[in-house]
Amino acid sequence: MRGVPQGGETDSETGQPGNCRPVAADPVRVSAELDQLEHRCCEGQQPGDEVQDGLASTGGQRPEHRQDQQDHGRHGTFDVGDEVVGLAMEDVSNGTYAELVTAPAAALVSKPGNMEFTTAAAVPLAGLTAAQAVSGEGLAISSGETVLVHAAAGGVGTFAVQLARRTGARVIGTASPRNADYLRSLGAEPVEYGDGLVERVRELAPDGVDAALDLAGGEALDQSAELLRDPLRLISAVDPRVFQLGGRMIQAHPNRGQLEELLDLVSKGDVHVEIAEVLPLDRVARAHDVIAEGHVRGKLVLDLTA
Ligand SMILES: NC(=O)c1ccc[n+]([C@@H]2O[C@H](COP(=O)([O-])OP(=O)(O)OC[C@H]3O[C@@H](n4cnc5c(N)ncnc54)[C@H](OP(=O)(O)O)[C@@H]3O)[C@@H](O)[C@H]2O)c1
Repeated sequence: MRGVPQGGETDSETGQPGNCRPVAADPVRVSAELDQLEHRCCEGQQPGDEVQDGLASTGGQRPEHRQDQQDHGRHGTFDVGDEVVGLAMEDVSNGTYAELVTAPAAALVSKPGNMEFTTAAAVPLAGLTAAQAVSGEGLAISSGETVLVHAAAGGVGTFAVQLARRTGARVIGTASPRNADYLRSLGAEPVEYGDGLVERVRELAPDGVDAALDLAGGEALDQSAELLRDPLRLISAVDPRVFQLGGRMIQAHPNRGQLEELLDLVSKGDVHVEIAEVLPLDRVARAHDVIAEGHVRGKLVLDLTA
């Protein structure tokens, strides 16, 4: 099996890579075909360390084995060879890229038949983070509100803009000028990030914004605090300093209902999935270099079959 084990470690009992032990009462072993790439910054981490230290991943996968046949029907009816999609965080919270992983059946849903694995692989983590940020468990965005989304052209931002627009909200999204038309195509009003952002947003929304989703960290938090009418409606997926400003952190978690809804929207063409590049596993270091540069539009996807 090819893969990048969690934390680069092997399991002390089995000697297998750390992501191969059973993870729940209802584990399904899946062969991963495509993995979405997600980058997490760790303090003191060097670019060369990132492959081993900070990854979370899931994607379009095929079950190879179901541990508990009686579970059939409770969390879905997966048979060997079914095409599934999921966010398998329980056992790989620090992440892995591997051809075989175990995942709780409760984290998996069927891949829509008309959807490419490449597209499906890009949905779970970015889509669920955005859905949970926009919905009642996050900012509870509603029709007529104005929401500011930082790093709106990234993987999470691309979903967040579209999901917020679907509630009937007005969305102002931050990006560099090269992504202005892209953000418009998603339904957002683009503003350039950096110095002067507060003034640029006030030109569009003189009374400020109702809610802000921070996917960039740093100055984006302070700028959001200045623009928000209610400091409590600030959520960050990135920067824990949000707590000092009265906001909250969001941590994506598996949710089958939300994932099925997202996949349905994508398969109907109601939500666009942007994929910057598809790379083979042996180019994962290159993929992380690109992510570290901070300008990926949408998602990078690893093709584990290549
Ligand atoms: N907490 C969670 O559960 C969770 C889940 C998923 C992701 N995350 C985190 O969320 C963050 C966003 O991830 P992502 O995959 O959506 O995108 P990303 O790859 O981290 O960011 C790419 C985007 O950031 C934009 N960008 C770069 N510098 C910026 C700045 N100073 N201000 C605003 N935008 C800027 C770029 O736009 P330009 O090219 O136009 O500059 C690019 O489109 C990451 O830090 C990720 O680790 C957290």
